Amino acid sequence: MTETPGPLERLVGSAAGTDHVPVQINTDEVSIARIYDFALGGKDNFAVDRAAADAMIAVVPETMLLAKANRYFVRQAVRYLVGEAGIRQIIDIGSGLPTAGNVHEIAQEIAADTRVVYVDNDPIVLAHSRALLAANDRTTFLNADLREPEAIFTHPETKRLIDQSEPFAVLLGGVLMHLEDEEDPEGVAAGIRDRLPSGGFLLASNTCDNGEPRARELSRVFAEKGMGGRCFRTWDEQIRYFDGLELVEPGLVPHNQWRAGPDIPEPDSPAHSLHIGAVGRKP
Ligand SMILES: C[S@@+](CC[C@H](N)C(=O)[O-])C[C@H]1O[C@@H](n2cnc3c(N)ncnc32)[C@H](O)[C@@H]1O
Repeated sequence: MTETPGPLERLVGSAAGTDHVPVQINTDEVSIARIYDFALGGKDNFAVDRAAADAMIAVVPETMLLAKANRYFVRQAVRYLVGEAGIRQIIDIGSGLPTAGNVHEIAQEIAADTRVVYVDNDPIVLAHSRALLAANDRTTFLNADLREPEAIFTHPETKRLIDQSEPFAVLLGGVLMHLEDEEDPEGVAAGIRDRLPSGGFLLASNTCDNGEPRARELSRVFAEKGMGGRCFRTWDEQIRYFDGLELVEPGLVPHNQWRAGPDIPEPDSPAHSLHIGAVGRKP
């Protein structure tokens, strides 16, 4: 089924303003960014995305909570990075569709001089980010892929906003999980750690195989719906993303345990153990 494209689907180009190549949004195939948008209560999704989300909710009714808790974790971590750790440069890879409390909004509210480079490989994110960031010269968006980090870190816009000899943070919120084993998420994380200077930070959060049968079931549905065949990796697998880094307390934990304030959604839900995250600092 094809839906009539809305104004933002007709677009676009690059928020960087350098390569305004028109892109087409495919409304017949699921999009990770749009499913996540639906789970967060957004409106930038199509029937195919909502059907995929429904299939996940049928297996684990708290699926939407996992997305909301992940987003909560990212926001809390940005508050920590800018407000407590003094970070003023952020590269957010797999940034997703704009939502309430975007990274640059949180960061620049705490420290207006914070620069943010958003990166996502889904053209719908390019479309929406361009609209959002048009008037903000400390923030940009690159339509690029985590699997090709060289293109991200050498892009002129990244070089314009991020002094890579000074501490910066890389956010990998809910994105390593979408890489297949053969795409080597551990190697990708290691490549990013290598690029961080001393005092730089890496954030990673992902769905987690906590040993419960429903983790396996949900993983199967994620794979069926084209989200990636190994979305649910174990804690032991995910802790390796932080090799050589000092973990910010309390380490790699469910999001309701990571500096969670009173506004964390459903704080006591056991489903929180299906999504974990951490922030590590390069010594
Ligand atoms: C679950 S959303 C997470 C959004 C946001 N980082 C957060 O944590 O709230 C994952 C995002 O990663 C993007 N993504 C998936 N694979 C990617 C890749 N190989 N390179 C760049 N972005 C990717 C998807 O398009 C989607 O927008």
